Amino acid sequence: KKEEQLYRPNFHFSPKKGWMNDPNGLYYKDGVYHLFFQHYPDGNKWGPMHWGHVTSKDLVKWEEQPIALYPDDLGYIFSGSAVVDKNNTSSFGDSKNNPVVAVYTYHNPNREKDGKIDVESQGIAYSLDNSKTWTKYSANPVLKNPGIRDFRDPKVFWDSKRQQWIMVLAAQDRTHFYASKNLKEWAFQSEFGKDLGGHGGVWECPDLFPLKVEGTNEEKWVLIVNINPGGPNNGSAGQYFVGDFDGKTFKIDEHFTKQLQKEKAAWLDWGKDNYASVSFDNVPQGKRVIIGWMSNWEYAQEVPTEAWRSSTTMAREVSLKKTKDGYILKNIPVAGLKNYQGKSIRKKINLKAENKLVSPSEIDLTKAVLDLNLKKMTAGTYSFSLKNSLGEEVVFGIDNKTKELFVDRSKSGKTDFGKNYSTPVTKAPLNQIYSEAKIKLVIDKTSIEIFFNDGEKVLTEIFFPNENFSELTLSTDTKGSSLNIDAHQLDIK
Ligand code: FRU
Repeated sequence: KKEEQLYRPNFHFSPKKGWMNDPNGLYYKDGVYHLFFQHYPDGNKWGPMHWGHVTSKDLVKWEEQPIALYPDDLGYIFSGSAVVDKNNTSSFGDSKNNPVVAVYTYHNPNREKDGKIDVESQGIAYSLDNSKTWTKYSANPVLKNPGIRDFRDPKVFWDSKRQQWIMVLAAQDRTHFYASKNLKEWAFQSEFGKDLGGHGGVWECPDLFPLKVEGTNEEKWVLIVNINPGGPNNGSAGQYFVGDFDGKTFKIDEHFTKQLQKEKAAWLDWGKDNYASVSFDNVPQGKRVIIGWMSNWEYAQEVPTEAWRSSTTMAREVSLKKTKDGYILKNIPVAGLKNYQGKSIRKKINLKAENKLVSPSEIDLTKAVLDLNLKKMTAGTYSFSLKNSLGEEVVFGIDNKTKELFVDRSKSGKTDFGKNYSTPVTKAPLNQIYSEAKIKLVIDKTSIEIFFNDGEKVLTEIFFPNENFSELTLSTDTKGSSLNIDAHQLDIK
């Protein structure tokens, strides 16, 4: 019981009870963001999957709703997406009522037990009352299994140029693209990715969307592909590709191809705890917002909580930046987070070897946003420590000599579970030695999200200390650098 209180996040969404993994069916309508999630309400490990449901007005504060989709004769309800069918193409609605249509994977446990290949197919369901009630389509599945064992996680969007729905689907080691006029009949268009990018594990939870290249009018398409295992720091992670989409085929951009020759894969988040990130449908002002599952299949089922397990990441707005080395899919916390900033403190510190940055009496570091600006940096290590009175700590920062960001949670409290949880140290390469750097931290009771230089590199990690972390310090072997701190208390209940 005590641990339940100790480890439940203060503001990231976690289910009241039972297991969760991927966010599903993300959409916005009538002032509300809807998030469904892979849910097993009757246990704290993965099991027969349902779609749990939560809503938010601002993507920060979440309210859990009754379960939306239950398993049925066709199988468990695996990951998928939801779209607002504004033209009633599905004819599930009427002239007044736009249906919301969920497109998800059926995973059939009986066929699986029988050793069959055709275990996964795609089904749809609709809601006419803002997701309070759902009706499954009577002619499910709408996309049968073509003889591929891993065939799942449909992400659907309206391709307005071609006036058609597009589904991007994970098919083992590649993505498939399908098109439809009515969400019920789907025609295969093309496939992508067999020999491109990361292939250390199975491809899952893809997404495809257009983005303007920052500072230009050029539009590129971003294909997100989650992969498990095979992430940059073991286990589950999200990668992306940049290219063009003509309604049929995704073609990788030449500049991005060069980047892949150097880097092998481009990663959305280098931390160990951001998986299955995909985007919301129908977000106002054309914004592209993603959210992920803040855990990793390496140890998600063994983390030290009992009645519930896992949470979502902070919702993030993505943007695309072109550099001489390639494209960067930046992600930063959604703007709505600012509305919860209460008490703030500001400091400028001329750095010594050991520096106290934030003390318990100043800001409660179990719900805080910190903006840190390093100046006059030299080639050495800037090592932050988020710690408690027991001497437990999460150590993270910039090695400005080896050119790396790092997170080390080997002394962060409970670490002795699952695979690859605390070792090796999480690392993300940097391509230069910096003289200035900006770091935004979003800190909850059991997680830290590190946004380097406006989200050009991101690291997300969870932790389980035996007492809440309450203090932030910095040690460095450099001389003459300074640090500006803006620390904000978050008032979220
Ligand atoms: C990703 C995933 C998906 C699948 C779901 C099952 O974490 O494996 O591919 O649909 O979880 O819960």
